[in-house]
Amino acid sequence: QYDAGPYLPRHGGLGALRRAAAGCQGCPLFEHATQTVFGAGPAHARLLLVGEQPGDQEDRQGEPFVGPAGRLLHRALEEAGLGDEDTYVTNAVKHFKFTTAARGKRRIHKAPNLREMSACRPWLVAELRLVEPEVVVVLGATAGRALLGSSFKVGEQRGVLRPMPALGEDPSDSWPGQLLATVHPSSVLRSDDREAAFRGLVGDLSVAAAALA
Ligand code: URA
Repeated sequence: QYDAGPYLPRHGGLGALRRAAAGCQGCPLFEHATQTVFGAGPAHARLLLVGEQPGDQEDRQGEPFVGPAGRLLHRALEEAGLGDEDTYVTNAVKHFKFTTAARGKRRIHKAPNLREMSACRPWLVAELRLVEPEVVVVLGATAGRALLGSSFKVGEQRGVLRPMPALGEDPSDSWPGQLLATVHPSSVLRSDDREAAFRGLVGDLSVAAAALA
């Protein structure tokens, strides 16, 4: 069974977590990815955003949300009045999963499966417990499933603040924060009506911004 659990340090903060994650072999995704892309941002950020997994650029640079989807996300955050200084960004899965096109070297993103998501979840849970943000925003279906369960659907549940779900079996294993789901920024890039999709993302993020105001 795939599991990052044994790679997690028993003590320490985000720095220790990040260093340990660099050596994670809890699932086979480490084999082809360039490096682990751990979360980034202030240790006690008020807002924490969860994406799916690093993309091509993130895999090369080792930082989350630095590629095209990341640039769009940062524009949307800015429009919603949310600055970088209070925002921690991370992903549900911390290695880039891809296929290579038959010809050429282009690496095409592949969605992580449930086994890979479950294997990687201990890193996300550890980040959440250390940062204890006031608001968590899950971006898209993968991040939503990681925190709200496999029946999560973005379309039905976006833009609404809800109490932070318990992270483990114990319902008291949580903190007094809120969670909001919205679409993944790459779905905005793929949308037929990008402008409307972008407005929708900004609208949802503005709900999070209001909760932090
Ligand atoms: N998409 C994600 O979900 N995460 C990243 O870090 C980049 C793109």
